[in-house]
Amino acid sequence: MDMVIRPRRLRKTETLRKMVRETRVNAASLIYPMFVIDGEEIEEEIPSMEGQYRYSVDRMPYELEKLAQAGVTNVMLFGIPAHKDECGSQAYAEDGIVQRALREAKRQFPDLYYITDVCLCEYTSHGHCGLLKGDYVDNDPTVDLLAKTALSHVQAGADMVAPSDMMDGRVAGIRRLLDDNGYVETPIMSYAVKYASAFYGPFREAAGSAPAFGDRKSYQMDYHNRKEGVKEALLDIDEGADIIMVKPAMAYGDVIREVADTVDVPVAAYSVSGEYAMVKAGAKMGWIEEDRIICEMAVSTFRAGASIYLTYFAKELAQYIKEGRIG
Ligand code: PBG
Repeated sequence: MDMVIRPRRLRKTETLRKMVRETRVNAASLIYPMFVIDGEEIEEEIPSMEGQYRYSVDRMPYELEKLAQAGVTNVMLFGIPAHKDECGSQAYAEDGIVQRALREAKRQFPDLYYITDVCLCEYTSHGHCGLLKGDYVDNDPTVDLLAKTALSHVQAGADMVAPSDMMDGRVAGIRRLLDDNGYVETPIMSYAVKYASAFYGPFREAAGSAPAFGDRKSYQMDYHNRKEGVKEALLDIDEGADIIMVKPAMAYGDVIREVADTVDVPVAAYSVSGEYAMVKAGAKMGWIEEDRIICEMAVSTFRAGASIYLTYFAKELAQYIKEGRIG
């Protein structure tokens, strides 16, 4: 056959395939989301997220140690309070669960990097991400509480804050309050492009944060929209976001690509609880190969344009990277 170009030439051996790879992955890009809960001696497995646990502050260090050993350097903390109320007051309480967890984590593992999820839904009795006015989440007063929450996280030791509520103007509100208090160097990673998604199902079980009525469609984005994602990303950058997140990851590669091509800040993508649960369930049934799927999902997210990857499989991925299976 008369063929000059033969793409198979570059696929012949593993060494060559690794040499010509377009996408590189590194454990430094991984963030592990972790649940901390009020109480003592608690290490509860989350039923719909096998292998993921809720840890009380006294048990959390064992898991942090495992992460550090695996080579995962970045942790995102989610708090589950014992008491919830209408205005989510435990979110910004000085002795709130995240605040206490941060102080302890920083004391025992000061070299890990701590990011906190800033939202009210885990703390409100109604499970919505903000204050209610009737059945509607009231934007502007919610922003004040989110800023207050972010400040109290930073005062307790958070290295970075990550608002996930999808209120308008919250990045500006948080930036202003942090700056006014002297925290001008603390970065904000905004869940800027966050869709109203069924993929969050297992998380809401984990955090007991399912809305008591209605849904989150009046603040999280409609998944039919791509351009709106770019709009949200650009707005948050204008308000001072240092990193932009797209969420979920797996079904949103087009959005990640579009945002990454448009913005000049790092783009993160969050492989959410439903993605994790599907992999775990499929593997348990013997229908898919868990480790290979984990690798493929991760690489596809980086290939789409993300440079930071939040995943419940962070430990496993760090191991696979070490073994040279991906990277
Ligand atoms: C809080 C928040 C959620 C997730 C991250 N932050 C839940 C939601 O918006 O309902 C989802 C994470 C996951 O599913 O893994 N607002």
